[in-house]
Amino acid sequence: MSSLSNYLYDDEPQCVDTMLAEIDWKKERAQQVFEKAKSLVSSVRASKRKIGELEVFMQQYSLSTREGLALMCLAEALLRVPDKKTANDLIRDKVAAHDWLANIGETKDLMVKAAGYGLMISDRTLTSMVSRLGEPVIREAMVQAMRMMGSQFVLGRTIEEAVKRAKEYPKYRMSYDMLGEGARTMADAERYFQAYKDAIDYLGRSYNENSGARRPGISVKLSALHPRYEYAQEERCIPVLTEKLLELCILASGYDMALTVDAEESERLEISLQIIENVLRRSQGDGWDGFGLAIQAYQKRCLYLIDCLAGMADQYKRRLQVRLVKGAYWDSEIKHAQVEGLKGFPVYTRKVNTDLSYLTCAQKLLSRCDVFFPMFATHNAHTICAILEMAEGKEGLFEFQRLHGMGEGLYDIVLNDNNVQATVYAPVGPHSDLLAYLVRRLLENGANSSFVNKIMDEDLPIEDIVKDPIEAARAHNTKMHGGIPLPQDIFGSRKNSEGIDLNDAPTAEKLLSAIHGFKNKKYEASPLHKAACAKPAGSKRKVVSPFDRDHVLGEVNYASSTMIDSIIARAKSDFTNDLSHAWSSIHHSELRARALEKFADLLEAHHEELMALCVYEAGKTVRDAHLEIR
Ligand code: FAD
Ligand code: 2OP
Repeated sequence: MSSLSNYLYDDEPQCVDTMLAEIDWKKERAQQVFEKAKSLVSSVRASKRKIGELEVFMQQYSLSTREGLALMCLAEALLRVPDKKTANDLIRDKVAAHDWLANIGETKDLMVKAAGYGLMISDRTLTSMVSRLGEPVIREAMVQAMRMMGSQFVLGRTIEEAVKRAKEYPKYRMSYDMLGEGARTMADAERYFQAYKDAIDYLGRSYNENSGARRPGISVKLSALHPRYEYAQEERCIPVLTEKLLELCILASGYDMALTVDAEESERLEISLQIIENVLRRSQGDGWDGFGLAIQAYQKRCLYLIDCLAGMADQYKRRLQVRLVKGAYWDSEIKHAQVEGLKGFPVYTRKVNTDLSYLTCAQKLLSRCDVFFPMFATHNAHTICAILEMAEGKEGLFEFQRLHGMGEGLYDIVLNDNNVQATVYAPVGPHSDLLAYLVRRLLENGANSSFVNKIMDEDLPIEDIVKDPIEAARAHNTKMHGGIPLPQDIFGSRKNSEGIDLNDAPTAEKLLSAIHGFKNKKYEASPLHKAACAKPAGSKRKVVSPFDRDHVLGEVNYASSTMIDSIIARAKSDFTNDLSHAWSSIHHSELRARALEKFADLLEAHHEELMALCVYEAGKTVRDAHLEIR
């Protein structure tokens, strides 16, 4: 069990104070970075690079507009709806409420027109043109629009196509990512695994030693390789994923290619580390320096994770390639913690805190170039300039990375003006495997807090775009974002039910051992129940566990049909007759509500025992049992 778990829900203000104390960020440095970033942004704005369709689109339908949000919801849902009828119903439901026409404006851009056209039709469909065009047309228009957006971010549908297209980017090394993640079946996982193997093989064989280009690399998502890549199934998935990752590593190292394991949802971090450590142990001494992983600065654990990785690199005598990202799953991390009623958030709630973390982590990585090859993945001009400043004198010991379809104009200038190298993360795959990746890119491009979104908005002054995030983090009175309710507060005046983080090993182990503690407790009918059933006697039956019929949990008295009348009569009389206790005379807002709240508190206070009953008596999974109590 790793100590990283201790920092999972760290206090955000405390984390910020720790980082502010750790980072070397004197006034002169802050000023220099600010000036450099200002000039970089103005050069980007001045360059006459063709603005992409998507960029215009994101400006038009930014996520801060109702339409932008609705479009995101529609896009997210539409591509995964398997049948046309449901897709049509969905369009009717989602689009009806929004006035898309208002946003078409003057733009002639194809993209805006495509989406706008589809939506315009839908708007009218729902009023006067229902029979003439209908949802199928909108559906096709929307799918087409999504495809166009997808093509912005995907280098090719096949690895062959992608490698051909990569020639358009001679200044960059490519790290190919075979689209596909969150495999739902073993068959999917096998298909993705095969795609990675084929891609490595193809890249290795087609690399031309004399080209002068750096060898391409590959980026791997472990969630693509196993359908149950989760803590609850660690005994099953860790051995399988270790073997699969090892096989990919052996293949990649044979071609001297780099292989980077992507960072995914925070709940997967600890198991991913176990898999990575297994691979390091098993491949110790093979002389390959291309193995690495991505780490997310928005996670409160990131600084400690770097210490942990340095320890592994030392132990297995290997230099690790570490890609530092801010993190692509922020929205879902926040929502997940709220829905699950967790203790807090595993990620920061203010963007500048993530920026501060990014630079503090960068400083740490750069201080250990003996064990790390840092790869700084960012499209933010301020972040890039800060890294350039912090890494002075370390040329060749680190690199920058950008995503295909993003930050191109920015890096054209960075590469031109500095002695640094960069890699492009290049997704490859068919449209059908694109959805999750596309949604993250749309969120990133559409969020008005994102640098890529701000730099496109010519009305925003450059000074605001490259404002020093560290100073901003220091200056906040409340270091946590006040507009993001903690999981327990999402219902306002009513407290959310308490959740248990079943993906956190120490928490889950404590819970499991408590549940086991109730395994042999014997249950009998309550005295009240017994009294009600006493005359005439009901039938007694043993209650056994559905998955272990020798495990007797207790006995239950089943009421005979003749008992039911007397029980109902008793309930009726308790409701109205007994003046001191009659439920009907208890004031609803006080005592009844209080009784319900007490009942809820008791459910929480006894959740371990109640969960044990759900598990042993009803045969529920632990997670199901937990949700039942909540
Ligand atoms: P900025 O605009 O400066 O930062 C945006 C980021 O800030 C958001 O993505 C989020 O992380 C953070 N943020 C936004 N709002 C808040 C808030 N309220 N509180 C706290 N933080 C906030 N991501 C992964 O998760 N795993 C990967 O393996 C991965 N691989 C990548 C590889 C490459 C080469 C690149 C370029 C990116 C990769 N990413 C990955 C995506 C990456 O996380 C995003 O592109 C990155 O966060 C954008 O940061 P930025 O510096 O470009 O932009
Ligand atoms: C993502 O898939 C790039 O790994 C990053 O969003």
